Amino acid sequence: MTEVRRGEPRSWLFVPADSEKKIAKAVDSQADAIIFDLEDSVAPQQKAMARGILKGLPERTGGPQWWVRINPLDSEHHKDDLELIGLASVHGIVLPKAESGADVTQLAHRTGNIPVHAIVTETAASLFGLLSYRDPKSPLAAMSWGAEDLSAALGASSKYDEDGALSFTYKLARSLCLAGAIAAGVQPVDGVFADFRDESGLRAEAEAARREGFTGKLAIHPAQVAVINAAFTPSADEVAHAREVVSAFEAQPGAGVLSVGGRMVDRPHLTQAQRTLQRAT
Ligand code: COA
Ligand code: MG
Repeated sequence: MTEVRRGEPRSWLFVPADSEKKIAKAVDSQADAIIFDLEDSVAPQQKAMARGILKGLPERTGGPQWWVRINPLDSEHHKDDLELIGLASVHGIVLPKAESGADVTQLAHRTGNIPVHAIVTETAASLFGLLSYRDPKSPLAAMSWGAEDLSAALGASSKYDEDGALSFTYKLARSLCLAGAIAAGVQPVDGVFADFRDESGLRAEAEAARREGFTGKLAIHPAQVAVINAAFTPSADEVAHAREVVSAFEAQPGAGVLSVGGRMVDRPHLTQAQRTLQRAT
């Protein structure tokens, strides 16, 4: 198995926790993080069995980080899911249907300081809570957005407009998730691309997300992992340019603005360049 990457996971691969076959594949994949799902992809009558499978997994010895998506705070399954939090190999919890930072706080009271990745746009009310995740004491590590549950919650017949692009409501949810995560100082993670056979569509969506500031993306199929990892890894040209910018400022520590390759660079460019170098593997 590969070494675990430092820093924020680029690819977060969902795997239904009731499928031992899929779990074996996910654990062996190149995903930076896998999310064992106990929520929407597992039928109610399968949930106890799925928890049993997770409890029986051998301890993790490298490879992707392990996260568990539990059922929402108000679900009848939630309390039983929390038993899994004590497993040594579980890195963090994914909380679906989060509506505000108070939900993360409530979860943290039950689970201690284990990192939390909240899915923050799945209910109508959630869209009004995106600035509430800023709490320096919170174990929140990442925020992602979901369109499927939101469209069901809103009674929409489709997420798309007549041109096939996401409708305004879902673009809004996506942007609010991005800005809310940055405001909270946690990783912004783009939502799933459901059409897992459409590789070029996934690539375009992942690259667009990265240009906007997302640093990772949810995946639902192993075939999506390599595309996502590539999209969120800076290219050799980007790394070279970032090095140039950082060196230029190092050479002139007192400068506020400089010229690099015939272009103006100032402090925001330096911040961007440092971020690029951090993300480079
Ligand atoms: N993790 C690990 N392995 C997976 C996988 C996943 N998310 N999705 C598919 N695989 C495996 C399949 O079991 C299959 O294995 P095999 O070659 O040994 O038979 C292989 O990858 C190829 O799968 P494929 O036949 O292309 O897809 P499928 O029809 O078996 O599965 C889905 C399609 C959508 C049902 C499946 O990808 C899936 O369960 N995704 C995750 C869904 C989820 O967790 N949703 C909740 C978050 S939105
Ligand atoms: Mg869901």
